[in-house]
Amino acid sequence: MVKFKINDQEVEAQPGWTVLETARHYGIHIPTLCYHEAVEPSGACRLCVVELKDGDWSKVVISCMYPVQEGLNVYTDSERVTNVRRWILEMLISECPASEEIRALAKEYGVNTTRFAEKDPEGQCILCGLCVRVCAEVVGADAITTVGRGVHKAIGAPYMVPADACVACGSCLTVCPTGAMAARIDKVRGEPKVKLLRSGR
Ligand code: SF4
Ligand code: FES
Repeated sequence: MVKFKINDQEVEAQPGWTVLETARHYGIHIPTLCYHEAVEPSGACRLCVVELKDGDWSKVVISCMYPVQEGLNVYTDSERVTNVRRWILEMLISECPASEEIRALAKEYGVNTTRFAEKDPEGQCILCGLCVRVCAEVVGADAITTVGRGVHKAIGAPYMVPADACVACGSCLTVCPTGAMAARIDKVRGEPKVKLLRSGR
């Protein structure tokens, strides 16, 4: 077992666990958006930051991808962590001002406005890719992907053609942390199989 501390509490982790996995094992809350235990982490949202301290030295890392090590001193809610999370939430609000989920999360950190320019007032997607990973790794359908580049990057069906590969399981809707997939599901899936079954075709 790997022994270290989270918020000055002694913890033990299996080799290969991440800091986030260990924190969850001990019921210590770290906010996440792009993480789901069913798929590989991607480190896309950065919200799960924690601070590692050693004397006067410290650094901020993302806990969902940081492997546990003997003797770490991890702080999940230090002043530095809170400041970084507030900054990240300001950026997320500017990216997806229409997401009630993001606004509610930001409010928990006292963030109600953003210094960054809003790109699209209707924006809800933070491009975390969780829906894509669940569709590929859990469902095995590969019905959605990241399309476009740079400012045109978006989540959609390959070549933006509604995908027959979609089995209308709703997994992408369930895991989406911002409500964005609910607004775009009809553009992603083709004719839902469940409708075909009901119509007897
Ligand atoms: S639709 Fe949701 S899950 Fe998919 S990338 Fe956007 S925010 Fe993430
Ligand atoms: S939850 Fe760790 S980067 Fe998104």
